[in-house]
Amino acid sequence: MTSSLRDIGYDFFSAVADLVDNSIAAGATTIDVVVEFDGPDSFVLIADDGTGMTQNGLVESLRFGSRRSYEVGELGRYGLGLKTASLSQCRSVTVCTRRAATVKRISTRTLDLDVIIDFDDWLIIDPGRTRAVTEAQRWLNEAPGTVVVWSKLDRVLPDRRPEGGWARRRFESLAVKTAAHLSMVFHRFLAGTAQGERVVMTVNGEKLQPWDPFAPQEQHTVELAPLSFEVEADDHVGTVRLRRFVLPPREKFSMQEEFDRLSGPLKWNRQQGLYVYRADRLVQWGGWAGVRSIDEHTKLARVALDFNTDLDAAFHINVAKMRVNLPTGIRQMLERPLHEVCLRANDTYRRNSRREAPVVAPPAELAPLPTVGLALRSAAAQSGDYAAFKRIVARLKETAPEVAESLNF
Ligand SMILES: Nc1ncnc2c1ncn2[C@@H]1O[C@H](COP(=O)(O)OP(=O)(O)O)[C@@H](O)[C@H]1O
Ligand SMILES: [Mg+2]
Repeated sequence: MTSSLRDIGYDFFSAVADLVDNSIAAGATTIDVVVEFDGPDSFVLIADDGTGMTQNGLVESLRFGSRRSYEVGELGRYGLGLKTASLSQCRSVTVCTRRAATVKRISTRTLDLDVIIDFDDWLIIDPGRTRAVTEAQRWLNEAPGTVVVWSKLDRVLPDRRPEGGWARRRFESLAVKTAAHLSMVFHRFLAGTAQGERVVMTVNGEKLQPWDPFAPQEQHTVELAPLSFEVEADDHVGTVRLRRFVLPPREKFSMQEEFDRLSGPLKWNRQQGLYVYRADRLVQWGGWAGVRSIDEHTKLARVALDFNTDLDAAFHINVAKMRVNLPTGIRQMLERPLHEVCLRANDTYRRNSRREAPVVAPPAELAPLPTVGLALRSAAAQSGDYAAFKRIVARLKETAPEVAESLNF
């Protein structure tokens, strides 16, 4: 069962993001991600300065379906994320945690697929002093919090030559894309506009800048009237909020670099559409969730849809937090407002692409056709191939008699 839970639908980036959720839920304000290449000993580490866990809490956190209750607005949900996200990428996950500045002790536990397979039992072990543990403990010696380390990265490293150049380049590219992914998914936390304190995040030491899909800094971003809807889930009524934006076209952006940056990880066309936020954390981005299809002409339209965790049941959020299903009722309510914003975006796009269109030069004066015919005839005579010319004309009279006539042949 543990092995089969590896394929629950995470990719590397959404797996890291799910651990960042845990850190935020634990009140962290600093979260550091390290993606370190070291051949077969490569590891990924996610360190936070949150509340940490007790020894019992630590063991509980490594059980599938860890038991606890959630407040509205908390990012956790099923009690699965830590295990499924980690094991989707690696065979061994180690968690080190320290409760408070006054507590020196660091508790460490490992969930290792190979141990579970060997003993055919659900074993959570004390890993002893491995490289991962040394790394993690270095972090916690300075301040309390929690560090999760993924090692035996069988889903990330190639089977053959895990120490080779290809593997190294893959790691480097993963780190860059992880930074882009986290900058997008957690942009409200990074900017300090989410509930709670601003969060500082780094990937391999580089501080992340929020990537806000709606370019609020840009003077020519247009926002349509915000809307909200009441939605029912589990005998409870919650609110869904909608904010609709038309981003400026290239020429209206303050800088070319900003236009390129706002293009986003999937680029303008595929980044158009709905941005669904659950408790301020982006869970779906780009595309119109089945309400309409992606279109070059509406690529400047981006819409934020916000719901809180009290509506989880209505939105059917999946475990990997990469997808929601819009309830049919909401989808119907969205049709008109989305159509409106797309019309505006289409208008902006067309007005600007007209201006962009190359100026067509007025046609130069052309010679009248009989003159053209005469010029061809004399050119043929001078070329010494007049016989060929006559054959061509004869043929032309058959295939396009009106053309031959207007050329005066
Ligand atoms: N970084 C962390 N800091 C403190 N507690 C954590 C951290 N990560 C996980 N936990 C604890 O482990 C539990 C299980 O986490 P997880 O498997 O991701 O499920 P969920 O987040 O849905 O509760 C969490 O509810 C939390 O109590
Ligand atoms: Mg979680």
